[in-house]
Amino acid sequence: MSGSRQGGRRDAGERADLARTVAFDALRAVNDDEAYANLVLPELLRERGVNARDAAFATELTYGTLRSTGTYDQIVQTCAGRSLADLDPPVIDALRLGAHQLLSTRVPPHAAVSTTVDLVRTHVHEGAAKFANAVLRRVGEQDLDGWAEQLAPPRETDLAGYLAFRHGHPAWIVRAFSDALRGDAEALEAALIADNEPAPVALAVRPGRGDVEELVSAGAQPARWSPYGATLVSGDPGKLAAVRAGRAGVQDEGSQLVTVALSRVEISGPDERWLDMCAGPGGKAALLAGLTAGPGAQLLAVEKHEHRARLVEQALRGDPGEHEVLVADATDPPWPEEDFDRVLLDAPCTGLGALRRRPEARWRRQSADVGPLRRLQISLLDAGIRSVRPGGIVAYVTCSPHLAETVTVVDDVLKSRGDAERVDARPYLPGVPDLGDGPDVQLWPHVHGTDAMYLALLRRK
Ligand SMILES: C[S@@+](CC[C@H](N)C(=O)[O-])C[C@H]1O[C@@H](n2cnc3c(N)ncnc32)[C@H](O)[C@@H]1O
Repeated sequence: MSGSRQGGRRDAGERADLARTVAFDALRAVNDDEAYANLVLPELLRERGVNARDAAFATELTYGTLRSTGTYDQIVQTCAGRSLADLDPPVIDALRLGAHQLLSTRVPPHAAVSTTVDLVRTHVHEGAAKFANAVLRRVGEQDLDGWAEQLAPPRETDLAGYLAFRHGHPAWIVRAFSDALRGDAEALEAALIADNEPAPVALAVRPGRGDVEELVSAGAQPARWSPYGATLVSGDPGKLAAVRAGRAGVQDEGSQLVTVALSRVEISGPDERWLDMCAGPGGKAALLAGLTAGPGAQLLAVEKHEHRARLVEQALRGDPGEHEVLVADATDPPWPEEDFDRVLLDAPCTGLGALRRRPEARWRRQSADVGPLRRLQISLLDAGIRSVRPGGIVAYVTCSPHLAETVTVVDDVLKSRGDAERVDARPYLPGVPDLGDGPDVQLWPHVHGTDAMYLALLRRK
């Protein structure tokens, strides 16, 4: 009896170390080879045959460590008494992983320290393992609030700086969120906390090809507001028959809502030509293509990059409606002016609204990225308005709440052109609560449970 219990404990220990090794290897790939965690981690889990429970632990460790890397780095540097630049990269990643377990999980401190030290011993050398042991013991001397008190700017005088440290975001992103939330401190903290929660797996059926009932009978729950959406509580979406057959795809409910909103705006006159200006990889194009069936319209899906245009073609494969995929630069349209009745511009952006899905993205993005993206967004929106006929509608969408990519882009383009006006977008997201004062809509993870999608609807005069 006691032998089998001991065996059970040993198995559990070995499994836990497998999870930590996978997390460590994922961190190395992300930080050394610029890999994306959401791509590299599933591959590692598959390769090593990790079971579901350990995969969940490895995912929590990888995502949690990456999200708060900036905070853990400051703590580790303090405890190491030297700059990270003076440490071996594998040691840095192991210390981040150890700090995460000590400060943000329920892993017992002795296990957090000893398993991390083992990783360093295996992957670096004994001397580095002793060093890691000493550093992590110091990290564990206080909790995250204690470290925030010691290392973060005071909450009273620099709220953004304090929250950036406490909730693992770069300060420039915290300030951008604060501006978009009009300085509401409580909402700001809730938004940052929501960014550190795993995002639900949201699915969308392609209208005319699949229906929500099929997803529900496969174990998903109907989405709260999108008539085409469902949420998968557990399991791999890639295994669902509807997803494999292209009748449904993975798509955030916020993305569905802004796309459906464009199709709902009343327009007088013809409703035959729809344009998706920035279509790759094709999630919104697939939904739009299904929605063209109502008025019997055709969809032109445009994408600048060839390989992403191929993904759009894949997403549209099997759609019974009329559609075409075109590789083109939408800032310099090859189509005539005023050629379309509805235009979707889902603009390239910083992606600050989807940080919960891409744990490393917040540290890769720089505030210097905003200026060039904004210039591109302005140029695309100007082309979008030129492309729609008078009375037609343009939906300007970003998955970023940064004001320099949202409201002020629209303000500047409307001011410079004078031939388009905002339409209140809120009525086209029926049932969705807390949409603010309008006319534009800003969704938030902490309010709506969606990515922070922004939508402005503009009618050509
Ligand atoms: C935010 S993504 C669009 C996501 C897409 N709507 C979906 O739901 O799957 C922006 C896309 O615009 C493309 N893009 C960037 N600049 C462009 C341009 N000048 N003309 C057309 N497409 C462009 C990018 O390659 C990228 O695929």
